[in-house]
Amino acid sequence: MTRNSGNPAQSGQVDATARGGRMPVDLLISPIAELVTAESHNGPVRGEDMRDVRRIKNAAIAISSGQIIAAGSADEIGQAIFTNESTEIIDARENLVTAGLVDAHTHLIFDGNRADEFVMRSQGKTYTEIAAAGGGIVKSMRATQDADVERLVHLGRKRIERMLESGTTALEVKTGYGLEAESELRMLEAIYRLKSESALDIVPTFMAAHAIPPGKGREGYVDDIIGDMLPRVVAMATAHSESSGMPLSQMLPYVDVFCDRGYFTLEDTRRIFDASLKLGLKLRVHSDEFVNLGATTLAVEVGAASADHLLNVSEEEIGLLAKSSTVAVLLPGTSFYLNLSDHAPARRMIEEGVAVALATDYNPGSCHISSLPFIWGLACLHLKMLPEEALTALTVNGAWAIGLGSNIGQLRPGFQADITIYDVKQLEEVPYNIGWNPVKQVIKKGRTVYSR
Ligand code: NIG
Ligand code: FE
Repeated sequence: MTRNSGNPAQSGQVDATARGGRMPVDLLISPIAELVTAESHNGPVRGEDMRDVRRIKNAAIAISSGQIIAAGSADEIGQAIFTNESTEIIDARENLVTAGLVDAHTHLIFDGNRADEFVMRSQGKTYTEIAAAGGGIVKSMRATQDADVERLVHLGRKRIERMLESGTTALEVKTGYGLEAESELRMLEAIYRLKSESALDIVPTFMAAHAIPPGKGREGYVDDIIGDMLPRVVAMATAHSESSGMPLSQMLPYVDVFCDRGYFTLEDTRRIFDASLKLGLKLRVHSDEFVNLGATTLAVEVGAASADHLLNVSEEEIGLLAKSSTVAVLLPGTSFYLNLSDHAPARRMIEEGVAVALATDYNPGSCHISSLPFIWGLACLHLKMLPEEALTALTVNGAWAIGLGSNIGQLRPGFQADITIYDVKQLEEVPYNIGWNPVKQVIKKGRTVYSR
């Protein structure tokens, strides 16, 4: 649906200081061929509201000190704001502009690659068969355990640059290829270093419960995670909070568990979640990727921030999700890359009012795809989502899934100026151009961080 903004003062799209003309604009993007933004005032967007985005032709965005102070029609904003010779102006008359894209689920840090498994799948082997034959997560564990923190940071940095070129401005990053305390903590340290050096917002997740390390019993490994690793994770987060001056709440990682057949049971997941909650750690879960073990029901029960994958989610669980604050993070790149015939039931979830987000699941095995515009195309083709719903899922809802929803994901006064500018003129052309990178320029906190 296309809405035109009314008077900016009435529509609330220009903030009060800007109207008074007292706040100088550092950056003005004007004119814009089409500005599209999802909007939410408290929490993620659900149901029909997911498609009800604000679409404005001949638009503009005014930015001051890294924040959006106005976003709406170019004529109205031109009258309401105050520019001077130091205002930078970006002419986007040929371009679509959206909020910066948010990748709410990545396994960004790993060494080595699993191109051999890609070839094995072409020959008909499944993910489960490949893992049973010594491939899978454990293969990446062997390569990653040998890497020091510097190497992990170096690898992560290159991948973040590639994501940025595809319009990603915030991402979640998991550990999970160390599978023993020292290597898992090295991975977490690498994530903190990337977080402190990167222009992008990076949200850490601790996922030692990604696979059972060879030679270790499952329950004994869960004991190690609970008794040894989680307290050390909190200590590391506390040290980083003190050295950076960032509040501990922004430094504590989420805890994630791969709850599926051959990985962790529902009981393991519950034990890890209980221990995490006692330490003040928030939760997310890999649920129903291959088999439904009940992890989505548990995720809702414990108030997890997200339940991800959901290929085998039940009707009852869709109802539970709809009534909860847990965001369903769908990963259509994974079902595509694994060549599965079924995909997550996105339409059912949207119909029932589940808050749906989309992410890459970027990892060395099941989905070596780091481009969110590509995921956007897959969401429209395979999940039957509308381009507007996918935008909502990739911005506002992705941001809520990683705890940043009140600060990023919307082109609205007061939000951080994270903006993706495309080489196409209207929204539908992004998924339509699947396979070609349409991103032209990326702005983070009001500063250009990528330009083609
Ligand atoms: O989300 N499901 C578990 N983790 C990844 C796969 C990771 C890997 O194969 O290395 C996933 O699909
Ligand atoms: Fe994953």
